Amino acid sequence: MEKKILIINGPNLNMLGKREPEIYGSDTLDDIKSMCKEKCESLGYQLIFEQYNSEGDMVNAIQESASKVEGIIINAAAYTHTSVAIRDALVFTELPVIEVHLSNVYKRESFREISYLSDISEAVICGLGSYGYIVSIDAMCNKIL
Ligand code: DQA
Repeated sequence: MEKKILIINGPNLNMLGKREPEIYGSDTLDDIKSMCKEKCESLGYQLIFEQYNSEGDMVNAIQESASKVEGIIINAAAYTHTSVAIRDALVFTELPVIEVHLSNVYKRESFREISYLSDISEAVICGLGSYGYIVSIDAMCNKIL
């Protein structure tokens, strides 16, 4: 069976394209999904790509992915800065995690500098826009897995 990786996206990322394009760019989440699918397939992995607005749904999806995927790339969006529950779910999976953000969270409000996920992640990629997802897939498939 083909190896899979999960890319999981948090709240408001379904609004990409319309949401603060000067910060997040003009690609929609569907555009990003297509780019990621192509990249994963070129590396021999199957992509599972999800987006949730609620924290509990993200926790459920992470728990359920534990036995199904080889690694997790997560843009937890605002929950990055608040969610012990998402952190605990990621730890539970015992899978390698890469944290990704479209924007450079260190060039913005100071509350975005706090991440509950960075110290349990193999790598943190931010500030590269949607290209950051491609870099994350490359790193996950070629370096970590
Ligand atoms: C984000 C950065 C977060 O601070 C913010 O809440 C988001 C998106 C990013 O991709 O740049 O929703 O994760």
